[in-house]
Order: sequence, then structure tokens, then C-alpha cells
Amino acid sequence: MLNMQIMKKQLLTILMFALGVSAQVWADDKLIDLCEKNTSSTYKEYGTATTIAAGSTLTVRTARYTDFYPTLSGKGNLELYCGGERTYLGKHSDKSYPNWTNFTGHVDIYPYKAVEGNCGFYGAVMNTNGKSYSPEDANPTSKINVLFNNNKVVLHEGAAFATEKSAAGIRIGELNTEAGSRMYGYYKSQSATSTAYYLLGCLHTDATLAGRIASVEKNGAPDATQAVGIVKEGKGTYTLTANDNQISGAIRINEGKVLINNDAATARKKKYTGGTGSAGNASMPVAYVFKGATLGGNGNIGGHVDLYGSLMPGDEGQGTLYLANYATSAACHLIVHPGSSMHFSLTDASAYTSMEASGSIQFSSMLQDFTEGKTQPQVVATLSENQQVKEGDTFTLIKAAKGRQNAADWKFKIVLPEQLTWDVNEAEENGQYVLSVTCTSLNQGSQGGEDDKDNVDDKDNVDDKDEEDEDDSAMFGEVAGTTVQKGMFLRKYLEMLDTDKRIGVAVPSTWTYNVPASPSSTVSKNISNNFNLCVAENEMKIDQIEPSQNGFNFGAANDLVQYAQNQRMAVRGHTLVWHQQVPEWISKDGKNNDKKWTREQLLEIMKNHITKCVKQFGSKVMEWDVVNETLDDDQSIVRTNPNGYQLRKESVWVKVIGEDFIDSAFVYAHRANPNIKLYLNDYDCEFSGVAKTTALYNLAKRLKDKGVPIDGVGLQCHLKANNFSKPKLNQTVKRYAEIGLNCIFTEIDIAITGNSSSELTKQAEVFSQIAQVWLKNDNCPHMVVWGINDKFSWVSGSHAVLFDENNTGKPAYKALQTTLRNYVANMKQQTSVEGVDNANAAEVGRYNLSGLRLTAPAHGVNIVRMSNGTVKKVMK
Ligand code: XIL
Repeated sequence: MLNMQIMKKQLLTILMFALGVSAQVWADDKLIDLCEKNTSSTYKEYGTATTIAAGSTLTVRTARYTDFYPTLSGKGNLELYCGGERTYLGKHSDKSYPNWTNFTGHVDIYPYKAVEGNCGFYGAVMNTNGKSYSPEDANPTSKINVLFNNNKVVLHEGAAFATEKSAAGIRIGELNTEAGSRMYGYYKSQSATSTAYYLLGCLHTDATLAGRIASVEKNGAPDATQAVGIVKEGKGTYTLTANDNQISGAIRINEGKVLINNDAATARKKKYTGGTGSAGNASMPVAYVFKGATLGGNGNIGGHVDLYGSLMPGDEGQGTLYLANYATSAACHLIVHPGSSMHFSLTDASAYTSMEASGSIQFSSMLQDFTEGKTQPQVVATLSENQQVKEGDTFTLIKAAKGRQNAADWKFKIVLPEQLTWDVNEAEENGQYVLSVTCTSLNQGSQGGEDDKDNVDDKDNVDDKDEEDEDDSAMFGEVAGTTVQKGMFLRKYLEMLDTDKRIGVAVPSTWTYNVPASPSSTVSKNISNNFNLCVAENEMKIDQIEPSQNGFNFGAANDLVQYAQNQRMAVRGHTLVWHQQVPEWISKDGKNNDKKWTREQLLEIMKNHITKCVKQFGSKVMEWDVVNETLDDDQSIVRTNPNGYQLRKESVWVKVIGEDFIDSAFVYAHRANPNIKLYLNDYDCEFSGVAKTTALYNLAKRLKDKGVPIDGVGLQCHLKANNFSKPKLNQTVKRYAEIGLNCIFTEIDIAITGNSSSELTKQAEVFSQIAQVWLKNDNCPHMVVWGINDKFSWVSGSHAVLFDENNTGKPAYKALQTTLRNYVANMKQQTSVEGVDNANAAEVGRYNLSGLRLTAPAHGVNIVRMSNGTVKKVMK
């Protein structure tokens, strides 16, 4: 009877599916079988929106080629029996994944071998809508697959998770994996770099990962070029127990706790990789423990540990945590940062927790947000509930086979239980470090918490609030009695001042230039009225300028420059060397050297391109983005190398020429025209405290220190209204000032969700704050908006720029008017008091703020010529 029912429902489903009916299917104990005639060219698909009612189970069977992408909702259970390899939770063709936001039930994933029993793996392939994620992303939500955000998922024995070739981020609310299951990254072994990170735990629950975490096998071992990593989110504890993990992309513990509880004794004996294995690049940490988070366990960690938070060796008061790689014997170091702490639990001389490192213990004064900290790291021992410590008991808490590095610069603050009296013994002999403590009396001692009185500054332990910068409100506030008009075109405000500041716009490629006549369309008017700087959105990229080798086509770019001159706009050139929009004759995809250039040949190509481009426009193009987007998205390297940075691997320039293509590019551009400014441009480098921001600074500093002719960096500022911090942007700009570099905003768009008035207001505030940072920092001469209106903006659907689809100024536009107006009014006041060299100043006229000569005394400015010949406007 039940069978009949299931069969009926099954038939109904198949019927509805065949008819393309997209109505919701209510599922109660339903089976969807997607195992018929699946081939690589005819995937079996299921995309009908489906609700799984609470208490019911939807069972899905897939065969090798399946796209399962229904919108799901409901609280029931989903059982996925996955056929081999290509069972996509999404569509394989467009890399999309479905919306399961309203599906909160449990998910069980099993292997299904009934149809084809000989596949590489049985499991689910997770798509990411083509988005790229890097584990140092401060705000990953829009860059990851959030399919399982609200689900508790179990990966059963024999089942697997895999991702497509990409930089994938997969968030799962709760994940448990059984022994015999596997978390891969990209499921094919190819030399192409591919990274996959599983963000686990946002439901704040505890879970166990007993399955293997490792990339696909290549020559019998996990492919180290492909990163598979874990990012621990949420408050719960995740326990890893497999003995053959190779977590090449590292474990990052952002929140909560991770226990590495593999069987270290067996791993040691059999030379297994054990609890974590090592990072793909063995000099990088395999575990990062961030502030407020904890790493513990009594297994082995096969790589370095970077500690900002707590290390809590052992589990439940027992056990040793080993930093040791038994498969390679490489030394594993512990790097402790200010505010970090190590916690030990003491029961008696035979029962306590401890840690042993095969490498050294090193101190880095850099905090998690790349600022400097002062607090020394702590060792804290506490008595367990059932402690029976006796006089004379010795506890060897830490052993590091390769000692404590730079021991003169730092020491542990050691905090011992106050109830007893202790002797601390830090032996640093024969290149080893051993910390042991001995109970010398059962009477109350003095060390507990009191030791090391000079070490009181522990502010690094408290959560840093966003650092507030100085109050700008006076500078940008409304100025009483101002004569500066409201609602003027943006550039007009700047033209009232003696300033080099320019506000720019990227000219959309769909725009016809109207050269040389004055533009007539509303779009063109909005451009020339408001902006005194423009950038070709595409026309100065290498594919357009040099479509064939040494065959230059400056047509569109020339038109733009001509037009800009007619409209008294300056031009910034974008961009000389980039891995995208590269002509096919150089490289088919900009990444690979399919044309087999030698280093010398490609350098010559680059030199020729840069030289001819720069010379073509002379000083009509006031500055160039010489190198664009050369940094990798993942800049974890700056955690262990504070001056480090990682170049993008998938770039033909990096691959064929090597890092010094950057140095050479700047030199060639400078030789072609020493009078223009040269910039290094990149994205996601706007806010201080972010790894990539630090990396761009490090690269720019390296170039500057070496004498490479670089004038500054461009921060692209493709941002989201929700993730903006004015103090952090300001800090970034100021940091460049310290090393004599400009820092400008080159491609601003501020994405919002929909265009409700609250979103538009939020966006307006962000534009205003960016403008405030621009205006108040002398080393930030330009801010450029990427696109003139929401219709032409390259981030379509994000309502990201100043004018709407109908070319009407949005609240963001009005906010910029206000910010500029206030700035001008304030500047007037400031110039009047700012110590103009009156003795040497010769009055050359009396003008109003728009520069018109005044006949009668009025509220206005004097234009004075200074002894050095410059002209200043002075408030009267
Ligand atoms: C974008 C353009 O806006 C698009 O029209 C084009 O299709 C792709 O490139 N970073 C950059 C810009 O440096 O050159 C990009 O411009 C946007 C991202």
C-alpha cells in the first residue's frame, strides 16, 4: 500500500517534471529518482520548487550526471543518495546553485552506487555562482555558496563533497562527517590551482568531522597545489578525528573551538599525516587561531600554528597536543602573538594537559589586524575539579624541540593556580625549550595572576572597537552664513578652490563621445558638468589599444582624450598591464602562456606597449594605472611574513616574466613620460586590518624603497554599503602618506540591495564618507566613480553609482554635493586664518567665490599672489 502511494507520487513527480510544471510539490516521504539515461551531454535535471514539510522526508537518488536545483523550503528532511562524480547541487552549465534559504531541515548525504558502481567518488558537487572566495575575506557572505546555511548536514560513509575548479567558499550551518567520507576541493587532479574552503558552524552547534579532509589524489597523494581548508564559524566545538587529513588550505578558527583528536600514537608509528597534515605551502601555518577562538585536542597538528587566541592542549583535562608532522618530519612551529594564551589543566602528576612542538615557539608582535601589540603571550594553568596535586609534583607543560626564538625579545607571562605555591622552571638548553612547573607547597602561593607585574597591559585581549578617527564634523558640518550655493554640479565646488583635487568618472563604453562638439545627451551632460576627471572604462585597455602585435588602435581612446579636453576634464589612463582584457595574440585567457613567450619576449612586448601608449597621449593623460590587480586574493602570507604579499598566480605576466614585471612596467612608463603620475591599482585593499590591504601596502613600499618610480596606489573601492568603515579607509590612506605615496579611489561603486529609500540613504552616507576621506587627506587627490549611471554600471542590478537609470541624481549624488559644499565653505574659513604670508603677498584683485571680480566690498575672497608666485584665495 505504502509502496503504491510512493509509486503514485513518483509518477506524479515525473509527470509534472515532464510537463515542465513548476508548481510547488508538497513532499511527504517522497522519492525523486533521477537515475535515468543520464549522460554527460544529457544531464538529468530537477528544478521544481519543492517544500519538504516538517516530519516528512524527501529522498533523492541521482546518477552520474545530474543537476539538482529546486528551490527548497520547509523543515522536513532531505536524503540525498548521490551517484558518481557529477551530481551537482545546482546547474553544471552556469555554475549556479539554488535558493534553500527557507529550507531548515536535516540533510543526509549517502553514496549511491546502484546505477554506476565505478566512479571516482560519490557525492555532491557544490557550485558558487562563479564567485571567488578567499579565507581572509572580511565579509564573505556574498562570495560563497550559502545553500546549507540553515541546515544540519551529515556526510555519511562513502559520500563526498567536492567543488568546481575555482576559489570556492561553501558555508554549512552544521556539518558532521562519518569516517570513510571525504571532503575534497576540486575533484580533478590538475596542475591548475584551485581552492576550496568549507565555512562550518554558523548554527553555533557542536559537531564531529570523522571523515577525511584532503584534495584529490595526484600520484598517490593529495594534490598539494589544490587547497582544501576549513573556516570555523559559530560558537560550537568541532572535533576532527581522522588520521589521514591533509588540510592544505589550513584551518582558520574565527570563533568557537576546534579539537584535533586524531590518534597521534598510530599516526606517529605509521607515518600518517594525522589530524591536519600540513598546509600546501609547508612554510605557512596549517592552523590559525583568531582572537576569542580556541584550538585544542590531544592529536597531532602537522604544520605551524599561528595563535592570536587560545591554545588549549588536551581534551577533558588529559592528553598532549603535538605539533608534529609524522609524514614528512618537518618541524612544526608555534607562533604566538600579543594577547594569545595557552591553557593547561592540572589534576595530578600523571594527569594533566601538555603540548609538544617539533619546532620552535616564536613571537610575532603583530596583532590579528596587522597593527602592533605589546602584551606578552600568557601561559595559564588551572587546577581541574578533581585535582589531587601533591607537593613535589612536576608538570611539564610545554616542550619545543627547537627552542624559543628571539628569546631576549619576549617571554611568557605565567599564571599559576593561586591556591598552591609553585616553582617555575623554563629550561632553554641545547636548543630546546621546556617549561615545567613544580608544586613546592600546598599553601597558598604568590605567583597566581601576580607574576610579572610589569606586564599589565593586556588591552590586546579585549575586542578592539573600530578605531575612531578624529572628528570631522566641524570640517564637514554646515557653515553658517556660507555663500557657497547648495546643489551645484560637483566639480563646480572644487573649481572654487585652489586645489588639485579632482572628482572623476569612468566613461561607459556604450557612450558615444560626441567629439568634438559639446555633448547633448543627458548622460554626457551629467559627465561633463559634474566631473573634472575621466577614465576610459575599457578603451585604454591593452586588448583595445593593441589588438594585434604592434598594431595600435588609439581611435576610441583619442576621441575620449579629445572630448575630455573640450570639457576641461583631466584624463587618467587605465590600464597598462593587467591579466584581463588581454588580446589573444598575447594570451588566450590572460592567465596562461599559450603563445609560449620567453621572459625576454614578453618583457619586450610589455615595454613596447607601455612606451607607445604613454607617449601617445603625453601629459594629456595625467596619470596611469601602470599595473592592475596583480595581487592574489589570498594574502594569508602577511600573517607570518609582515612584509609579505602574494602575487596572482593566474596571470601571464607573473607566470612568464616573474614579479619584476611590476618594477619594469613602472620604469618603462616613467621613461616614456617622467611628468605623469604612476599608480598601482587593486581591489579589496581599502580597509586597514585586512590582509590584502597590508599586502598592497607591502608591495607598494617595496617598490618605493627600491626607487621604482611609483607615485601611489589606487584603491578600486568596488564596495558594498553594508561593509564600509570610514576610520579604516582613512587609516589606509594615512599609512601611504607616511611613506610618501598617494592613495586614491579609482573605481568607486557602492552596491546596495534593491533601491529602497533606506538603502539609498545608506549608500549616500558611504559616498559622503569616502568623499570626506578624499578631501581631508592631501595624499588623496582623486576620487573616481566607476560608471555614470546605474544602467551602464558594470555591477548591474546593484544600483551602485550616483545617477539612476533615468540619469537623475540619487541621494548619493546629493550627499556628495553637500559634502563638497561644506568642504568648500570650511576651506574658505580655514584659508582666512591659515597664515597666508601677508607681508609678501601682493593683492592682485578682489573676487567672489566663483572667481568673479567684485566691484563693491562684499563677503568674498581676495586673490593674493604669494612671494613664490602661487596664487591663494583668502577669505575677507
Ligand atoms: C570593467 C568594465 O567596467 C566593464 O565594462 C568590462 O566589461 C570589464 O571591466 N576592475 C577594473 C576595471 O580594473 O577595469 C573593470 O572594468 C572593473 C574591475
